[in-house]
Amino acid sequence: MSLLTIMPSGKSIEVTAGTKLLTAILAADESIHHKCEGKAACGTCHIFVQEGRKGVSRIAREENERLDTIVGVGSKSRLACQAIMLGTEDVKIELLGFSSGV
Ligand code: FES
Repeated sequence: MSLLTIMPSGKSIEVTAGTKLLTAILAADESIHHKCEGKAACGTCHIFVQEGRKGVSRIAREENERLDTIVGVGSKSRLACQAIMLGTEDVKIELLGFSSGV
């Protein structure tokens, strides 16, 4: 288990290792677009991992290819439907629409 903090609300929830960020965000009753329902096809679940990047899985090729097509992507960008909580450290993310990006 590790703690996931979701900005800008500041809501924190305990998340089991192996849980996708998208699943955790929705479980926390936070609002996030996820048009393709987690297939890495739409890019609407783009978020920023502000702290604890080692606490989430590495970016796979499919996610990286989708991120390359999104405007406003930075070094902290992830697709919430592809990033998996590892349980190794607490993570703070920022939902889009509220962030300046990188
Ligand atoms: S929900 Fe479509 S890329 Fe994540």
